[in-house]
Amino acid sequence: MGLNIVTDNKNELESHLIDVRRNLHAEPELSNQEIKTSKKIKKWLENAGISVLDVPLKTGVIGEVRGQSDGPVVAIRADIDALAINEEVVSPFQSNIPGVMHACGHDFHTAVIIGAAYLLKNRQDRIKGTVRIVFQPAEETGHGAKSIIASGGLEGVEAIFGLHNDPLSEVGVFGVKDGVLTAGVDRFEINIRGKGSHAARPQEGIDPIVIAAEIISRLQSIVSRQTKPSESVVISVTQIRSGNTWNVIPETAYLEGTVRTLKEEIRQTIPGKIERVIKGITETYGAVGELVWHAGPPSVNNDTEWTNFASHIAETNGYKVVEIEPTSGGEDFSFYQQSIRGAFVNIGVAGEYGLHHPRYTLNEEAILPAAYYFADLAERALNKIYADKLAKDYKPS
Ligand code: NI
Repeated sequence: MGLNIVTDNKNELESHLIDVRRNLHAEPELSNQEIKTSKKIKKWLENAGISVLDVPLKTGVIGEVRGQSDGPVVAIRADIDALAINEEVVSPFQSNIPGVMHACGHDFHTAVIIGAAYLLKNRQDRIKGTVRIVFQPAEETGHGAKSIIASGGLEGVEAIFGLHNDPLSEVGVFGVKDGVLTAGVDRFEINIRGKGSHAARPQEGIDPIVIAAEIISRLQSIVSRQTKPSESVVISVTQIRSGNTWNVIPETAYLEGTVRTLKEEIRQTIPGKIERVIKGITETYGAVGELVWHAGPPSVNNDTEWTNFASHIAETNGYKVVEIEPTSGGEDFSFYQQSIRGAFVNIGVAGEYGLHHPRYTLNEEAILPAAYYFADLAERALNKIYADKLAKDYKPS
Protein backbone atom coordinates (compact mmCIF):
# COMPACT_ATOMS: atom_id res chain seq x y z
CA MET A 1 0.00 0.00 0.00
CA GLY A 2 1.66 3.18 -1.07
CA LEU A 3 1.04 6.75 -0.15
CA ASN A 4 3.98 8.60 -1.56
CA ILE A 5 2.81 12.11 -1.07
CA VAL A 6 1.51 13.52 2.14
CA THR A 7 -2.02 14.65 1.52
CA ASP A 8 -4.27 17.12 3.24
CA ASN A 9 -7.13 15.95 1.05
CA LYS A 10 -9.55 14.63 3.64
CA ASN A 11 -11.14 11.94 1.50
CA GLU A 12 -7.83 10.62 0.25
CA LEU A 13 -6.36 10.63 3.73
CA GLU A 14 -9.40 8.95 5.22
CA SER A 15 -9.48 6.13 2.71
CA HIS A 16 -5.75 5.57 3.17
CA LEU A 17 -6.08 5.42 6.96
CA ILE A 18 -9.00 2.99 6.68
CA ASP A 19 -6.80 0.82 4.44
CA VAL A 20 -4.02 1.01 7.04
CA ARG A 21 -6.38 -0.07 9.80
CA ARG A 22 -7.84 -2.94 7.75
CA ASN A 23 -4.42 -4.11 6.67
CA LEU A 24 -3.30 -4.29 10.31
CA HIS A 25 -6.59 -5.88 11.35
CA ALA A 26 -6.19 -8.71 8.84
CA GLU A 27 -2.68 -9.50 10.04
CA PRO A 28 -2.61 -9.07 13.83
CA GLU A 29 0.47 -9.97 15.86
CA LEU A 30 0.82 -10.76 19.56
CA SER A 31 2.86 -8.75 22.07
CA ASN A 32 6.59 -8.61 21.30
CA GLN A 33 5.99 -10.43 18.01
CA GLU A 34 4.95 -7.33 16.00
CA ILE A 35 7.67 -7.82 13.36
CA LYS A 36 5.53 -7.41 10.22
CA THR A 37 3.44 -4.70 11.86
CA SER A 38 6.60 -2.71 12.65
CA LYS A 39 7.90 -3.13 9.09
CA LYS A 40 4.62 -1.87 7.65
CA ILE A 41 4.51 1.15 9.96
CA LYS A 42 8.07 2.00 9.05
CA LYS A 43 7.23 1.79 5.36
CA TRP A 44 4.10 3.92 5.69
CA LEU A 45 6.08 6.60 7.52
CA GLU A 46 9.07 6.54 5.18
CA ASN A 47 6.83 6.63 2.09
CA ALA A 48 5.49 9.91 3.42
CA GLY A 49 9.00 11.26 3.99
CA ILE A 50 8.80 10.91 7.78
CA SER A 51 12.07 9.89 9.39
CA VAL A 52 12.29 6.86 11.64
CA LEU A 53 14.65 6.93 14.61
CA ASP A 54 17.47 4.43 14.63
CA VAL A 55 16.90 3.05 18.11
CA PRO A 56 17.39 -0.47 19.49
CA LEU A 57 13.85 -1.90 19.39
CA LYS A 58 13.06 -5.52 18.50
CA THR A 59 9.51 -4.49 17.65
CA GLY A 60 7.87 -1.06 17.66
CA VAL A 61 8.80 2.09 15.73
CA ILE A 62 9.54 5.69 16.67
CA GLY A 63 9.08 8.27 13.95
CA GLU A 64 9.92 11.94 14.11
CA VAL A 65 8.64 15.14 12.53
CA ARG A 66 11.04 17.96 13.16
CA GLY A 67 9.97 21.57 12.73
CA GLN A 68 11.87 24.38 14.40
CA SER A 69 15.12 22.68 15.39
CA ASP A 70 15.75 24.40 18.72
CA GLY A 71 12.13 24.00 19.85
CA PRO A 72 10.69 21.65 22.47
CA VAL A 73 9.85 17.95 21.94
CA VAL A 74 6.49 16.25 22.54
CA ALA A 75 5.33 12.68 21.83
CA ILE A 76 2.13 11.00 20.68
CA ARG A 77 1.80 7.28 21.26
CA ALA A 78 -0.12 4.34 19.79
CA ASP A 79 0.13 0.71 20.87
CA ILE A 80 0.34 -1.90 18.10
CA ASP A 81 -0.17 -5.41 19.54
CA ALA A 82 -3.14 -7.79 19.26
CA LEU A 83 -4.71 -10.40 21.54
CA ALA A 84 -4.89 -14.21 21.66
CA ILE A 85 -8.57 -14.27 20.68
CA ASN A 86 -10.20 -16.01 17.72
CA GLU A 87 -12.09 -13.38 15.72
CA GLU A 88 -15.80 -14.09 15.20
CA VAL A 89 -16.54 -11.07 13.02
CA VAL A 90 -16.85 -11.99 9.35
CA SER A 91 -15.52 -9.22 7.09
CA PRO A 92 -13.23 -8.78 4.07
CA PHE A 93 -10.45 -7.83 6.50
CA GLN A 94 -11.14 -10.47 9.15
CA SER A 95 -8.03 -11.70 10.95
CA ASN A 96 -6.27 -14.29 8.83
CA ILE A 97 -4.15 -15.43 11.77
CA PRO A 98 -6.14 -18.08 13.66
CA GLY A 99 -6.40 -17.33 17.36
CA VAL A 100 -5.07 -13.77 17.08
CA MET A 101 -7.24 -10.67 16.79
CA HIS A 102 -7.06 -6.90 17.11
CA ALA A 103 -9.84 -7.10 19.69
CA CYS A 104 -8.63 -4.06 21.64
CA GLY A 105 -8.55 -1.75 18.62
CA HIS A 106 -4.80 -1.13 18.65
CA ASP A 107 -5.11 -1.20 14.83
CA PHE A 108 -7.34 1.88 15.22
CA HIS A 109 -4.79 3.59 17.50
CA THR A 110 -2.02 2.89 14.97
CA ALA A 111 -4.03 4.23 12.01
CA VAL A 112 -4.94 7.37 13.97
CA ILE A 113 -1.35 8.14 14.94
CA ILE A 114 -0.08 7.43 11.41
CA GLY A 115 -2.70 9.93 10.18
CA ALA A 116 -1.53 12.46 12.75
CA ALA A 117 2.07 11.92 11.61
CA TYR A 118 1.09 12.65 7.98
CA LEU A 119 -0.72 15.82 8.99
CA LEU A 120 2.21 16.98 11.10
CA LYS A 121 4.59 16.28 8.23
CA ASN A 122 2.42 18.58 6.13
CA ARG A 123 2.78 21.33 8.74
CA GLN A 124 6.48 20.70 9.34
CA ASP A 125 7.47 24.24 8.35
CA ARG A 126 5.29 25.86 10.92
CA ILE A 127 5.59 23.59 13.98
CA LYS A 128 7.60 25.02 16.82
CA GLY A 129 9.62 21.93 17.69
CA THR A 130 9.76 18.16 17.27
CA VAL A 131 7.05 15.51 17.53
CA ARG A 132 8.12 11.93 18.29
CA ILE A 133 5.61 9.46 16.95
CA VAL A 134 5.66 6.35 19.10
CA PHE A 135 4.32 2.97 17.98
CA GLN A 136 4.71 0.88 21.09
CA PRO A 137 4.80 -2.92 21.17
CA ALA A 138 3.45 -5.22 23.89
CA GLU A 139 0.93 -3.05 25.70
CA GLU A 140 -1.18 -6.10 26.51
CA THR A 141 1.61 -7.72 28.51
CA GLY A 142 2.18 -4.45 30.35
CA HIS A 143 5.86 -3.99 29.59
CA GLY A 144 6.16 -2.56 26.06
CA ALA A 145 6.40 1.02 27.32
CA LYS A 146 9.56 0.06 29.19
CA SER A 147 11.26 -1.07 25.96
CA ILE A 148 10.40 2.28 24.33
CA ILE A 149 11.84 4.15 27.33
CA ALA A 150 14.95 1.94 27.36
CA SER A 151 15.51 2.58 23.63
CA GLY A 152 16.25 6.23 24.43
CA GLY A 153 13.68 7.37 21.86
CA LEU A 154 11.88 9.59 24.35
CA GLU A 155 14.88 11.66 25.36
CA GLY A 156 14.01 15.33 25.65
CA VAL A 157 10.25 14.74 25.48
CA GLU A 158 8.42 17.26 27.67
CA ALA A 159 4.82 16.09 27.21
CA ILE A 160 3.28 12.82 26.01
CA PHE A 161 -0.23 11.96 24.82
CA GLY A 162 -1.92 8.63 24.20
CA LEU A 163 -5.34 7.27 23.38
CA HIS A 164 -7.63 4.34 23.84
CA ASN A 165 -10.73 3.72 21.83
CA ASP A 166 -14.04 3.21 23.60
CA PRO A 167 -16.46 1.01 21.67
CA LEU A 168 -19.24 1.80 24.12
CA SER A 169 -19.19 5.55 23.30
CA GLU A 170 -20.46 7.21 20.15
CA VAL A 171 -18.14 8.60 17.48
CA GLY A 172 -17.46 12.23 18.40
CA VAL A 173 -17.35 11.56 22.15
CA PHE A 174 -14.08 12.32 23.89
CA GLY A 175 -13.59 10.81 27.37
CA VAL A 176 -11.19 12.39 29.80
CA LYS A 177 -10.22 12.14 33.46
CA ASP A 178 -7.87 14.31 35.44
CA GLY A 179 -5.70 12.24 37.83
CA VAL A 180 -5.98 8.45 38.17
CA LEU A 181 -7.67 6.78 35.20
CA THR A 182 -6.61 3.11 35.25
CA ALA A 183 -5.66 0.61 37.94
CA GLY A 184 -2.25 -0.52 39.08
CA VAL A 185 -1.96 -4.06 37.72
CA ASP A 186 0.02 -6.65 39.67
CA ARG A 187 0.29 -10.40 39.25
CA PHE A 188 0.97 -12.86 42.04
CA GLU A 189 1.82 -16.53 42.46
CA ILE A 190 1.48 -18.55 45.65
CA ASN A 191 3.38 -21.79 46.20
CA ILE A 192 2.20 -24.06 49.00
CA ARG A 193 4.24 -27.02 50.18
CA GLY A 194 2.45 -29.54 52.38
CA LYS A 195 3.11 -33.27 52.68
CA GLY A 196 1.75 -35.92 50.39
CA SER A 197 -0.10 -38.95 51.71
CA HIS A 198 -2.68 -41.60 50.92
CA ALA A 199 -6.08 -39.97 50.41
CA ALA A 200 -7.57 -42.41 52.93
CA ARG A 201 -5.06 -41.39 55.66
CA PRO A 202 -4.96 -37.56 55.56
CA GLN A 203 -3.63 -37.46 59.14
CA GLU A 204 -0.28 -38.73 57.79
CA GLY A 205 0.10 -35.79 55.39
CA ILE A 206 -0.46 -32.03 55.20
CA ASP A 207 -3.11 -31.36 52.58
CA PRO A 208 -2.10 -28.40 50.36
CA ILE A 209 -5.52 -28.37 48.63
CA VAL A 210 -7.38 -27.62 51.86
CA ILE A 211 -4.81 -24.93 52.62
CA ALA A 212 -5.15 -23.43 49.12
CA ALA A 213 -8.94 -23.33 49.47
CA GLU A 214 -8.67 -21.45 52.78
CA ILE A 215 -6.17 -18.98 51.34
CA ILE A 216 -8.43 -18.28 48.36
CA SER A 217 -11.40 -17.48 50.60
CA ARG A 218 -9.37 -15.52 53.13
CA LEU A 219 -7.77 -13.30 50.45
CA GLN A 220 -11.19 -11.71 49.92
CA SER A 221 -11.15 -10.51 53.53
CA ILE A 222 -8.28 -8.19 52.54
CA VAL A 223 -10.83 -6.43 50.32
CA SER A 224 -13.86 -6.68 52.61
CA ARG A 225 -12.29 -6.31 56.09
CA GLN A 226 -8.92 -4.61 55.71
CA THR A 227 -9.61 -1.96 53.07
CA LYS A 228 -11.72 1.17 53.40
CA PRO A 229 -15.04 0.68 51.58
CA SER A 230 -14.33 3.77 49.47
CA GLU A 231 -11.00 2.41 48.19
CA SER A 232 -10.98 0.14 45.17
CA VAL A 233 -9.13 -3.13 45.52
CA VAL A 234 -9.74 -6.23 43.41
CA ILE A 235 -8.05 -9.54 44.22
CA SER A 236 -8.80 -12.37 41.80
CA VAL A 237 -7.34 -15.88 41.95
CA THR A 238 -7.39 -17.06 38.36
CA GLN A 239 -5.47 -20.33 38.38
CA ILE A 240 -5.20 -23.33 40.73
CA ARG A 241 -2.96 -26.31 40.13
CA SER A 242 -2.55 -29.29 42.40
CA GLY A 243 -2.78 -33.06 42.36
CA ASN A 244 -2.86 -35.70 39.65
CA THR A 245 -5.38 -38.30 40.71
CA TRP A 246 -8.28 -39.18 43.04
CA ASN A 247 -6.66 -41.22 45.76
CA VAL A 248 -3.47 -39.35 46.58
CA ILE A 249 -3.14 -36.15 48.59
CA PRO A 250 -0.52 -34.14 46.69
CA GLU A 251 2.56 -32.48 48.10
CA THR A 252 2.11 -29.00 46.63
CA ALA A 253 -0.46 -26.51 45.37
CA TYR A 254 -0.01 -23.49 43.13
CA LEU A 255 -2.22 -20.40 42.85
CA GLU A 256 -1.99 -17.46 40.48
CA GLY A 257 -3.96 -14.24 40.26
CA THR A 258 -4.05 -10.49 39.94
CA VAL A 259 -4.48 -7.45 42.17
CA ARG A 260 -5.93 -4.15 40.89
CA THR A 261 -5.77 -0.93 42.88
CA LEU A 262 -6.40 2.73 42.09
CA LYS A 263 -4.11 4.27 44.71
CA GLU A 264 -0.38 3.73 44.93
CA GLU A 265 -0.40 3.93 48.77
CA ILE A 266 -2.99 1.14 48.95
CA ARG A 267 -1.18 -0.86 46.28
CA GLN A 268 2.02 -0.90 48.35
CA THR A 269 0.23 -2.49 51.33
CA ILE A 270 -1.33 -5.45 49.49
CA PRO A 271 1.67 -7.85 49.17
CA GLY A 272 2.25 -7.66 52.94
CA LYS A 273 -1.39 -8.45 53.64
CA ILE A 274 -1.39 -11.40 51.26
CA GLU A 275 1.79 -12.71 52.89
CA ARG A 276 0.16 -12.50 56.31
CA VAL A 277 -2.80 -14.58 55.09
CA ILE A 278 -0.45 -17.19 53.59
CA LYS A 279 1.69 -17.34 56.72
CA GLY A 280 -1.27 -17.61 59.09
CA ILE A 281 -2.99 -20.40 57.24
CA THR A 282 0.09 -22.45 56.33
CA GLU A 283 1.39 -22.26 59.91
CA THR A 284 -1.94 -23.48 61.23
CA TYR A 285 -1.39 -26.70 59.27
CA GLY A 286 2.39 -26.94 59.53
CA ALA A 287 2.87 -26.27 55.80
CA VAL A 288 5.09 -23.74 54.05
CA GLY A 289 3.82 -21.00 51.76
CA GLU A 290 5.53 -18.45 49.56
CA LEU A 291 4.31 -15.38 47.69
CA VAL A 292 5.93 -14.39 44.38
CA TRP A 293 4.97 -10.82 43.44
CA HIS A 294 5.22 -9.44 39.90
CA ALA A 295 4.65 -5.69 39.91
CA GLY A 296 3.03 -4.50 36.67
CA PRO A 297 2.19 -1.03 35.42
CA PRO A 298 1.06 1.56 37.97
CA SER A 299 -2.08 3.66 37.44
CA VAL A 300 -2.34 6.02 34.50
CA ASN A 301 -2.23 9.35 36.32
CA ASN A 302 -3.16 12.25 34.10
CA ASP A 303 -1.47 15.60 34.62
CA THR A 304 -4.03 18.31 35.41
CA GLU A 305 -2.60 20.99 33.15
CA TRP A 306 -2.18 18.72 30.12
CA THR A 307 -5.54 17.03 30.71
CA ASN A 308 -7.31 20.39 30.65
CA PHE A 309 -5.30 21.35 27.59
CA ALA A 310 -6.19 18.08 25.78
CA SER A 311 -9.90 18.60 26.61
CA HIS A 312 -9.82 22.15 25.35
CA ILE A 313 -8.27 21.10 22.03
CA ALA A 314 -10.88 18.32 21.76
CA GLU A 315 -13.66 20.88 22.13
CA THR A 316 -12.15 23.13 19.50
CA ASN A 317 -11.98 20.06 17.23
CA GLY A 318 -15.72 19.51 17.64
CA TYR A 319 -15.63 16.63 20.12
CA LYS A 320 -18.18 16.28 22.87
CA VAL A 321 -15.99 16.09 25.99
CA VAL A 322 -17.22 13.90 28.86
CA GLU A 323 -15.60 13.01 32.16
CA ILE A 324 -15.03 9.27 32.50
CA GLU A 325 -14.78 6.98 35.55
CA PRO A 326 -11.51 5.32 36.50
CA THR A 327 -11.37 1.64 35.45
CA SER A 328 -9.91 -1.47 37.07
CA GLY A 329 -8.22 -2.28 33.77
CA GLY A 330 -4.55 -1.49 33.23
CA GLU A 331 -2.57 0.53 30.69
CA ASP A 332 1.22 0.72 30.55
CA PHE A 333 1.13 4.33 29.30
CA SER A 334 1.57 4.94 33.04
CA PHE A 335 5.29 4.07 32.77
CA TYR A 336 5.81 7.14 30.55
CA GLN A 337 3.99 9.31 33.07
CA GLN A 338 6.48 8.38 35.77
CA SER A 339 8.95 10.75 34.14
CA ILE A 340 7.02 12.75 31.53
CA ARG A 341 3.86 14.74 32.18
CA GLY A 342 1.00 13.87 29.90
CA ALA A 343 -2.57 12.84 29.29
CA PHE A 344 -4.24 9.63 28.17
CA VAL A 345 -7.68 10.06 26.60
CA ASN A 346 -10.59 7.98 25.30
CA ILE A 347 -12.08 8.28 21.81
CA GLY A 348 -15.57 6.93 21.11
CA VAL A 349 -15.72 4.39 18.25
CA ALA A 350 -19.32 3.11 18.54
CA GLY A 351 -18.73 -0.65 18.49
CA GLU A 352 -21.26 -3.34 19.30
CA TYR A 353 -19.22 -5.22 21.89
CA GLY A 354 -16.70 -4.29 24.55
CA LEU A 355 -12.91 -4.44 24.32
CA HIS A 356 -11.34 -7.94 24.18
CA HIS A 357 -14.58 -9.46 22.82
CA PRO A 358 -14.30 -11.89 19.84
CA ARG A 359 -16.99 -9.82 18.11
CA TYR A 360 -15.41 -6.45 18.87
CA THR A 361 -15.92 -3.94 16.03
CA LEU A 362 -15.55 -0.21 15.56
CA ASN A 363 -16.92 2.53 13.35
CA GLU A 364 -14.11 3.64 11.05
CA GLU A 365 -15.58 7.14 10.82
CA ALA A 366 -13.80 7.76 14.11
CA ILE A 367 -10.33 7.45 12.51
CA LEU A 368 -9.97 10.71 10.57
CA PRO A 369 -11.21 13.15 13.25
CA ALA A 370 -8.92 11.47 15.80
CA ALA A 371 -5.95 11.83 13.42
CA TYR A 372 -6.69 15.55 13.02
CA TYR A 373 -7.11 15.86 16.77
CA PHE A 374 -3.72 14.32 17.60
CA ALA A 375 -1.91 16.41 14.98
CA ASP A 376 -3.55 19.52 16.38
CA LEU A 377 -2.84 18.50 19.97
CA ALA A 378 0.86 17.90 19.29
CA GLU A 379 1.26 21.13 17.32
CA ARG A 380 -0.48 23.22 19.96
CA ALA A 381 1.33 21.52 22.83
CA LEU A 382 4.60 22.60 21.20
CA ASN A 383 3.25 26.15 20.87
CA LYS A 384 2.28 26.14 24.53
CA ILE A 385 5.64 24.89 25.81
CA TYR A 386 7.40 27.35 23.51
CA ALA A 387 5.27 30.29 24.69
CA ASP A 388 5.59 29.28 28.38
CA LYS A 389 9.38 29.25 28.01
CA LEU A 390 9.45 32.66 26.33
CA ALA A 391 7.28 34.07 29.11
CA LYS A 392 9.61 32.59 31.74
CA ASP A 393 12.77 33.94 30.08
CA TYR A 394 11.26 37.38 29.60
CA LYS A 395 12.70 39.87 32.05
CA PRO A 396 11.21 43.35 31.99
CA SER A 397 13.98 45.99 31.87
NI1 NI B 1 -5.98 -1.79 24.56
